[in-house]
Amino acid sequence: MDTNKIIIKLEGISFAYIGRSMLFDQFGFEFRQKGDRIGLIGPNGSGKTTLFHIMIGLLKPMRGSVTAFGKTRTMEIDFREMRKKIGLLFQDADDQLFSPTVAEDIAFGPLNLGKSHDEVHEIVEHTLEILGLKGFENRVTYNLSGGEKGWFRWQPYWQ
Ligand SMILES: Nc1ncnc2c1ncn2[C@@H]1O[C@H](COP(=O)(O)OP(=O)(O)OP(=O)(O)O)[C@@H](O)[C@H]1O
Ligand SMILES: [Mg+2]
Repeated sequence: MDTNKIIIKLEGISFAYIGRSMLFDQFGFEFRQKGDRIGLIGPNGSGKTTLFHIMIGLLKPMRGSVTAFGKTRTMEIDFREMRKKIGLLFQDADDQLFSPTVAEDIAFGPLNLGKSHDEVHEIVEHTLEILGLKGFENRVTYNLSGGEKGWFRWQPYWQ
């Protein structure tokens, strides 16, 4: 394995929300090593969430490029392919939990990746097990406590 391989590269990214001043001006960043854990630190409102949204294609930069897994990502279809390999946890758990029950919410991702019902069933069971959430499967996501929502969002990646 080439551990020096670039996983995600942002080049010359410029971005401003409509009617607001520039948040990023020619910003660049690289995630290089598989297995690395990188902390992105900045004051409230400095643009961390915005940067992640640009990185996975939820926001489009005014200038610059996003390259991931060796391919420049421009169109929604490019980002869709990339999102099969990268997950983003939203800052607010309520932006992410939208299915009626915990089990259905866990199933949502793998079902959308085209997994069979048997595979999804296995994934749901496994996920509940490793997150220590056995017994939560039929709980209404909306009624989970803040901490429970937080844990639940750390669903593993399914591929
Ligand atoms: N949809 C939006 N429209 C206009 N301005 C926005 C929008 N979303 C965020 N902002 C503004 O852009 C700036 C960056 O916001 P962002 O959420 O990226 O910051 P952050 O670094 O993640 O902050 P925090 O540490 O509080 O989570 C802030 O000034 C914020 O008010
Ligand atoms: Mg944020």
